[in-house]
Amino acid sequence: MTTKSNAERLQELNEAAELGGGQARIDRQHDAGKLTARERIDLLLDAGTFVELDKFVTNRCNDFGMADQKIPGDGVVTGYGKVDGRLVYVFAQDFTVFGGSLSGAYAEKICKVMDMATKCGAPVIGLNDSGGARIQEGVASLAGYADIFYRNVRASGVVPQISAIMGPCAGGAVYSPAITDFIFMVQDTSYMFITGPEVVKTVTSQEVTKQELGGAHVHSETSGVSHFETQTEEECIAKIRELLSFIPSNNAEDPPFVPTDDAFDRRDGALDTLVPENPSKPYDIKELIGHVVDDGYFFEVQEAFARNMVVGFARMGGRSVGIVANQPAHLAGCLDINASLKGARFVRFCDAFNIPIVTLVDVPGFLPGVDQEYGGIIKHGAKLLFAYAEATVPKVTLITRKAYGGAYDVMSSKHIGADINFAYPTGEIAVMGPDGAVNIIFRKELAEADDPVARKDELVAEYRETFANPFKAAELGYIDEIIFPRDTRPRLIQALEMLENKRAENLPRKHGNIPL
Ligand code: HXC
Repeated sequence: MTTKSNAERLQELNEAAELGGGQARIDRQHDAGKLTARERIDLLLDAGTFVELDKFVTNRCNDFGMADQKIPGDGVVTGYGKVDGRLVYVFAQDFTVFGGSLSGAYAEKICKVMDMATKCGAPVIGLNDSGGARIQEGVASLAGYADIFYRNVRASGVVPQISAIMGPCAGGAVYSPAITDFIFMVQDTSYMFITGPEVVKTVTSQEVTKQELGGAHVHSETSGVSHFETQTEEECIAKIRELLSFIPSNNAEDPPFVPTDDAFDRRDGALDTLVPENPSKPYDIKELIGHVVDDGYFFEVQEAFARNMVVGFARMGGRSVGIVANQPAHLAGCLDINASLKGARFVRFCDAFNIPIVTLVDVPGFLPGVDQEYGGIIKHGAKLLFAYAEATVPKVTLITRKAYGGAYDVMSSKHIGADINFAYPTGEIAVMGPDGAVNIIFRKELAEADDPVARKDELVAEYRETFANPFKAAELGYIDEIIFPRDTRPRLIQALEMLENKRAENLPRKHGNIPL
C-alpha cells in the first residue's frame, strides 16, 4: 500500500478547500449571477496579498449525516491582505458549502479575524452570502452568531467594519452587518430581512417577494439599512476599495492623505450665483459641494435615502472630510426623522475615526406633521444634536441660506461646539422665516390694518432686514466670518488646516445616553 506524503496530503487538502462545495455548485453560483467567495476576495485585495487562515477547519457536527461531510474551510474563507497597500482583514461566506450557512467552527474563524483586526488596528470586511444558521448544528450556530455580534459591538469605533451583502442574509444573521459601519448591497442577488416572505404571509397575509421585502433597492431607499446599492458585485467591491481610501485603518490613525493638483486657494466665481436670491427657490447642494472639494469629487453615502440630507466623503487639500448638508432640492432641505438619523450616524462615524466634519446649512426647520411627531421626531432630531455636540473632531459650518429655528442650533451651530462658523451674505438666521414670524407677532396689527396685504409686505421687509441675514449673528460672534461664496474652498481649507491639531475631549464617563 502506498501512503501519501504529508506534502501530497497538503496539496490535496488545499485543492479540496479551494473547490468548496464542488464544481457543480460553483457553476450554480455563477449561473445565479454571483461570484464565488474566493473570486470576490481576489477582486477585493491587491493582487497576491491574500493570506488565508484556517483553510482546513471543518465542522464539528456529527448529527444529521454531518460526520461524513467535512469540507475543509467549512463554508467561509478568512484571512488578511491589502487594499491599496493597507492591511485589511476579510471573511467571505461560501454559498457553495452548505449554502454558506454558519456553523460553530465557521463562526470561530470569523471571530479569529475580527480579534486580529482589533488587535492590529485594521478594518474588517465581511462578504456575506449565507443561508443563515447551519440547521444541523442548532444552538452551536446561534452561539456562533452571538460571538460575532459581541465582537462587532466591541470593535465598533475601534476599527472600520464594512459589510457587503452578496446573496441571502436573513433572520438574526442580519444583525452582524447592521452593527457594522457600512452596508453594501448588490441589486437583484442580495436581500436582507428578519423574517422572509412566507412568515410575513402567514402572520400578516401580505404577499411580497424577497426583493420587495428586503432587496438592495428597498434598503437603500426606504429603510436606510444599506448605505450603497450597486448593480454588480464588481462595482460593489470597487466601491468598498474606494471607501477605504477615505478612512483611517483604526481610531488612533488619521485618514490617508491624497495629494491633489486642485489648488488649495482656488476661488470659484460660479458659486457667487449658485444660491438663488429667492429663498423659496431650490438649488442642488451637491453642485455646491462639487465646486468646493478636491477635483470636484464627492463620494456620497446613502444617496437614495432621506435625500433632504446629503452625507458623504470628499477631500479638501488632500485630507478627508465628512460632509453633512441639507439639500434644498428635496423637501426644501427640511430635517425629518430619516434625515436626522442619517446625519447623526454619519457624524458619529466621522467623529469615531478622526474625520473632520464640514456642515453646509440651508434648512427651513424640522418637518411639521402628525406622522413625524408620532414617529418620534423629537428623539430622532435630538440624536443629530447629540452627535454633533459630542463630536470632538474639527467641525466647520457654512450657512449658505436658511438656518431657522431649532434646526439652526442642531446643524452644527457655534453653540453646540462647532469650531468655525461661516455664512454667505445670503444667510438668513432667524427663529423662523419672515412670513411666518410676521403672521405671529403682528397678528393683531394685521387684522386691524386698512390694507393688511401692504402692511404685511412692509413688516416682512422689516423683519427680513433685521433678522433674515447673517449680520446679527456675526455681531454676536455666532458667525466667525461672512464670506463671499467664491472664497468657499480657500476659507474651508484654511479653517481645516488651522484645526488640524485640535485637542478636545469629552468629560470622563462610561458613555453618554444618546436618545435611542
Ligand atoms: C444548512 C443549508 C442552509 C442552512 C441552505 N443550505 N441553507 N444548509 N443550513 N441554513 C443548503 C441547502 O441544503 C443546499 O444544500 C444548499 O445550501 C443551497 O441551498 P438551496 O436551497 O438549494 O439554494 P437556494 O434555492 O438558492 O435557496 C437559498 C436559501 C434557502 C433561500 C438560503 O436555502 C433557504 O431558505 N435556506 C434556509 C434558510 C434558513 O431558514 N436559515 C435558518 C434561518 S434562522 P445542497 O447540498 O443541496 O447544495 C437563522 C437564525 C440566525 O439564520 C440567528 C442568529 C442569531
